[in-house]
Amino acid sequence: MLLLRAVVGRRLPPLTQLRRGSSRFAAGAAAGGGRRGAAPVLAALLGLGAVLAYGERRRRSAQAAKATPAPRYPVYTREEVRRHRSPGDRVWVTHGTEVFDVTDFVELHPGGADKVLLAAGGALEPFWALYAVHSQPHVLELLREYKVGELSPEEAPPSPDAAQDPFAGDPPRHPGLRVNSLKPFNAEPPAELLTESFLTPNELFFTRNHLPVPAVDPGSYRLRVEGPGGRALSLSLPELRSRFPKHEVTATLQCAGNRRAEMSRVRPVKGLPWDIGAISTARWGGARLRDVLLHAGFGERRDGEWHVCFEGLDEDVGGAPYGASIPYGRAVSPDADVLLAYEMNGEELPRDHGFPVRVVVPGVVGARSVKWLRRVAVSPAESPSHWQQNDYKGFCPSVDWDTVDYRTAPAIQELPVQSAITQPRPGAAVPPGELAVKGYAWSGGGRRVVRVDVSLDGGRTWRAAELAGERPAPGRAWAWVLWELRAPVAAGAELEIVCKAVDASYNVQPDTVGPIWNLRGVLSNAWHRVRVTVAR
Ligand code: MTE
Repeated sequence: MLLLRAVVGRRLPPLTQLRRGSSRFAAGAAAGGGRRGAAPVLAALLGLGAVLAYGERRRRSAQAAKATPAPRYPVYTREEVRRHRSPGDRVWVTHGTEVFDVTDFVELHPGGADKVLLAAGGALEPFWALYAVHSQPHVLELLREYKVGELSPEEAPPSPDAAQDPFAGDPPRHPGLRVNSLKPFNAEPPAELLTESFLTPNELFFTRNHLPVPAVDPGSYRLRVEGPGGRALSLSLPELRSRFPKHEVTATLQCAGNRRAEMSRVRPVKGLPWDIGAISTARWGGARLRDVLLHAGFGERRDGEWHVCFEGLDEDVGGAPYGASIPYGRAVSPDADVLLAYEMNGEELPRDHGFPVRVVVPGVVGARSVKWLRRVAVSPAESPSHWQQNDYKGFCPSVDWDTVDYRTAPAIQELPVQSAITQPRPGAAVPPGELAVKGYAWSGGGRRVVRVDVSLDGGRTWRAAELAGERPAPGRAWAWVLWELRAPVAAGAELEIVCKAVDASYNVQPDTVGPIWNLRGVLSNAWHRVRVTVAR
């Protein structure tokens, strides 16, 4: 749906015009002639036509297929395809043994024209392998609208092994993880294990990767630190470890998309269907970002708005790294405990979690804790990264993909108060007698969770749960609390168990998802509800 929705969001010419344009293109293309120099507007309309008329044409072509023999396409060599690498020469790509002229789609590509052009003149497979959104049948069907030829049978198609899998070097993972996407790897610990221990074991810590895991040689690794008003540094791993005191912080990381699956039940949203486990807690060890910045000569404060931007070693197909930024004040604050971490629960960072060095920004959305860190830059502007500018922002429930303007919303930093029930699980049949309800609660910005209220009757009556956790310094409650409530339950009862947390600023969670629904499914923190029955 992504492709279609993004394209349909544009202003539309009359359908008749589109259909005419599309079929003319198909005829010309099948004859083997690209229409060089076609006006870009016309090109866009033609591409739109292919999309808009997609459903109807699919039906018609199914009918037509019965009536007419399959079209015979001209045959091209890979060398001939390679000559079509720019809109001026027409943009051709291959998929399997088929050749497509996607010139008219270039400007309509939701991921940006530049990304399609990277594949121009060659095979799509290596690029599609990187972005799971393409592995849906409608994408292939959409592509077929642009078919202009076949590859010469003398040329063997690249074997699946030869089409490089950019994820082939990803590390092995724990089989207990609940996988939301394999490539890139995104997985959460099962709820049953999530609160078994206060610190999440490294193997079960949720993983949120946007790209393949980079293979980093610790021997040649360097971290660059730079920006106006400071000295540029290039630090090796031993230098980072020995020049700066090791600082340890217990901090919970939570992805902005945690509990997105509940939001999708209200209205579908775009994003991975995280359940309640895109949150985990570890004891992180490393150098304070503050110490490194001060060592590089950056001051305690800076006039005006400044940011500290981070870049990872993981890059997209265009060579753009994962990136994010935080305000300068947080980066240098002695109370914010921002780390350049090289240890997680007493071990070196696992590859999935940023080996050899990652940022850990306690109390802030996980997206800013950049893994596989290669660069720290002090800047008057926020990170230009897609993930800072065009993702991880919240919107009004009425904003949809046709109206969203990412420039109008601030990047998410501190997260709101959150809690969820990890035991019992939805739909369980629990034994009568004493029921143990367990879960986690956490709030952003170092705000301590002061209370967790639990109801067994859908929110009509409440009791406060017992809280367990570390005793944090004021304003520095970076880790979750685990909570438990024991209550008698009668045989045969239907329970709707609900939890809601209250933080030190007396922020509470909203009762329902509807009023906080947003198109990207972030910041999902409504009361968590679990229905169970009590066995007879
Ligand atoms: N850093 C890099 N370099 N690449 C990424 O894909 N994902 C971010 C953040 N840092 C990401 C990254 C997001 S969205 C989250 S929620 C956290 O890492 C997740 O950290 P984890 O995988 O260690 O749990």
